[in-house]
Amino acid sequence: MSIETKHLFIEEILSEWKSRIGDDYPGYRGHVYRVFNFCLALRSCTEEEKLKLAIAACFHDIGIWSDHTMDYISPSVAQAKQYLSNAGLQAWSDEIGLMVEFHHKVRTYGDERYPLVELFRKGDLVDFSLGFFTFGLPRRYIRQVKKAIPNSGFHKFLMQGATDWFSEHPLSPPPFMKW
Ligand SMILES: [Fe+2]
Repeated sequence: MSIETKHLFIEEILSEWKSRIGDDYPGYRGHVYRVFNFCLALRSCTEEEKLKLAIAACFHDIGIWSDHTMDYISPSVAQAKQYLSNAGLQAWSDEIGLMVEFHHKVRTYGDERYPLVELFRKGDLVDFSLGFFTFGLPRRYIRQVKKAIPNSGFHKFLMQGATDWFSEHPLSPPPFMKW
């Protein structure tokens, strides 16, 4: 399986956000690429599906930086939809909105009209869990992706966010988790 480390849409979209993401940029960029690659490895996709995955990957956590919050799902959906509307791709808005909205759903996403939602949830979880969840991907391949696209402190950053959340809200799960 090949590993994509440069994709035109991902480069274009993320470069627009580079200054706002600041020091976290290399970490987030790596996460976006690893999730993208894991999705493509989980099942073969058409060119159109690949573009949708690339866009969803870029925006899925962007609310952390656009709105400076760990309650970042809705702002991320809003930013994705704004981008799609500016790019004349409103037709993809519902689907990509759902991909972002449900990417931290704990249980399977079952609406068969939009299979990319479940694919994207799995791809994110492979990376989010550092490869604990594989959904059948060979561990060797996961290791190769992690080696080709370094973590650059992304999981350390996530852990810090979760720690800050629990210190302020000890009894409630982080708002980005959905049952
Ligand atoms: Fe993510």
